[in-house]
Amino acid sequence: MRRLRSSAALRDMFATVRLSRRQLVAPLFVREGSGVFNAIPSMPGQFQFSADTALEKVRKWSDLGLPAVLLFGIPDIKDSTGSAAWDENSALHSLIRNIKQALPEMVVITDVCLCEYTDHGHCGVLRSHGGAHGKAANTQIDNDATLKLLGKVAISHARCGADIVAPSAMMDGQVRTIRQNLDSNSFDSTAIMAYSVKYASCFYGPFRDAAQSAPQMSDRKSYQMDYRSPRQAAQEAQADIDEGADIIMVKPAATYLDIIAQMRQRFDAPLAAYHVSGEYAAIKAAAMNGWLDEKSAVLEVTSAIARSGADIIITYFAEQLAGWL
Ligand code: PBG
Repeated sequence: MRRLRSSAALRDMFATVRLSRRQLVAPLFVREGSGVFNAIPSMPGQFQFSADTALEKVRKWSDLGLPAVLLFGIPDIKDSTGSAAWDENSALHSLIRNIKQALPEMVVITDVCLCEYTDHGHCGVLRSHGGAHGKAANTQIDNDATLKLLGKVAISHARCGADIVAPSAMMDGQVRTIRQNLDSNSFDSTAIMAYSVKYASCFYGPFRDAAQSAPQMSDRKSYQMDYRSPRQAAQEAQADIDEGADIIMVKPAATYLDIIAQMRQRFDAPLAAYHVSGEYAAIKAAAMNGWLDEKSAVLEVTSAIARSGADIIITYFAEQLAGWL
């Protein structure tokens, strides 16, 4: 085996996993105001932007050859239903419009969820009669009431020009509802990237700092998946494909390579993997302490995600990777 490993040229020739900046998606957090450039302490190198500073960042990414962004909004005012999520005057909605105007080739993907917008921090609306059937009040998310709101959010993003909407609330039927809402409002060409296989993960911790979206009580285990139940992954993905998802996603990524590989084997749908905030933070922290070589670590982990079968990779390392690739 050593003969074809003996030079860099030979290794490159026979490598079959070829990472490309063209498969990377860069996440971005946008809040109200102007001139905002707030460092996110638990995600060194990541910032909260306002619509103006965000556009400059996206322009830079475009120049670096990154094809797509995934946008998250952070509202000033949160309420029980997350109504800022479909306010078309918000910073997020302005940013969508501004990117599509200034950089029409940039693929704009938007996260469709309520957790950044609700005062309780859950991804859906809570039942007014909590505690029914002996369950704790905080596990009582109203699935179908939430679907209606997710439909409104998706339409509002599509109206501003989003190319792809990405429902991440883990409500049953969310892809079907959003597809129907988009189609009946003439947004039949807006695609859906479904967060199909999304585990209840501690690795979202830094994101919740960044988006100020930590649940105020309880956790998300009544709707996000249990990492001890791998067979549910195929059920979730199949349901989303049947409901009209154009792209399915596994999240987190690096700790779920088995699930990515399983999805790749079972489904032909385009497959995304989300290397999440905590996976980013762990590498950053080790690198900042001199315990890992950052570039080597990022290339190795990202290659592993691609090798396991992901077509596109959502990663906070996108900008750095674009420079390295
Ligand atoms: C919204 C959402 C979350 C992430 C993406 N979309 C947070 C969550 O579900 O708690 C996490 C992304 C990351 O950690 O980088 N529901």
